[in-house]
Amino acid sequence: MRAIGRDPIFIDRGEGAELIDVDGNRYIDYVCSWGPLIHGHAHPQVLDALATAAAKGTSFGAPTAAEVELAVEVTRRIEGVEMLRMTSSGTEAAMTAIRLARAATGREMLLKFAGAYHGHADGLLAQAGSGLATQALPASPGVLASTAACTVIVPWNDPGALRAATARYEFAAILAEPLPANMGLVPAQAGFLELLREQADENGALLVLDEVISGFRVARGGAQELTGVGADLTIMGKILGGGLPAAAVGGRAELMRLLAPAGEVYQAGTLSGNPLAIAAGLATLALLDEPAYLRLAAVTERLAEGLHEAAVGYPIQVASVPGLLTVFFSDSPIRSFEDARKCDLQAHAAWCRELYSRGVYAPPSQFEAWFPSLAHTPEHIERTVAAATAAFAELE
Ligand SMILES: Cc1ncc(COP(=O)(O)O)c(C=O)c1O
Repeated sequence: MRAIGRDPIFIDRGEGAELIDVDGNRYIDYVCSWGPLIHGHAHPQVLDALATAAAKGTSFGAPTAAEVELAVEVTRRIEGVEMLRMTSSGTEAAMTAIRLARAATGREMLLKFAGAYHGHADGLLAQAGSGLATQALPASPGVLASTAACTVIVPWNDPGALRAATARYEFAAILAEPLPANMGLVPAQAGFLELLREQADENGALLVLDEVISGFRVARGGAQELTGVGADLTIMGKILGGGLPAAAVGGRAELMRLLAPAGEVYQAGTLSGNPLAIAAGLATLALLDEPAYLRLAAVTERLAEGLHEAAVGYPIQVASVPGLLTVFFSDSPIRSFEDARKCDLQAHAAWCRELYSRGVYAPPSQFEAWFPSLAHTPEHIERTVAAATAAFAELE
């Protein structure tokens, strides 16, 4: 909320697509807990599944059949995932993927893209170094320079910089969000994901695709289904836990078997595969059939179109894919983090404050995506477009 110059809103409860704050104000929610709540708040089927699971006990530290059922559902949805390991957060899943990639390749260096977020493990809190294809610097106090130096940051959608980095280093992993949504939504330009796949193979690195946001959202099989570019390791989270803490890393069986106890690569977690999170995840995925994805695509498309119309000539760019969108305050298309940083952040902040005062809870940062859900009705969308139109009018 600091990014838009207002105080945080304390939430009392959520109902479908709406949030009610402690003062009784009601908002149409486009944050939806930053992605997990694809069916909105307190969906009855998710709550029923949770109540049934909770009545049987909340944690065992031992396997359950439901955990296997969820794993099987994931392997059906994502072609390259034959086995997976559950964790409690996307951060842990990314950390595990990196350890696995390093163990599998016997290499240390990582390639990551500017503006991508993969959770807060030390080596991923790195920012670009002094030049193209140089080792990164810590992006947070407390991150060791020596840890950040094992990461190389490359601008997104820059084939030349990617090639320069892969020519210079032997990478354990090329790590990317296939639909980056942590600098606002900035999809790959034509051919860039294919280039990632090709460069990873030529370099001998694993391609690790982080689908914590895009997974189970943009299509049944996530961004990999949408784009046709497959990963060696896939990181998942958010929707996988249906609003409770669950995440996972998955890939080919031969790679996943390197993890302990089958292999030597250590990984563990007291609450990994927690029965409540698994129950919420299973109930959430069970509701995500083809008609649901078509509906989400239609809702997003209408919202994107409506927000575009609402601007009435005000210079914005609306990026969208099914289930995600960003309104960039820019007069030119956004292709990279550098482009996103040049947006008119003050106008964006003022617009957001106007939206909030009109009952629309948009992500309070230019560098985040909106998360339309299956609970958003056409009436919610039209109310949002009306609020957005009035909010733009205040900016003139
Ligand atoms: C793409 C991506 N990867 C990883 C993470 C980290 O997940 P978590 O917050 O569950 O640790 C996030 C969180 O927003 C994310 O957006």
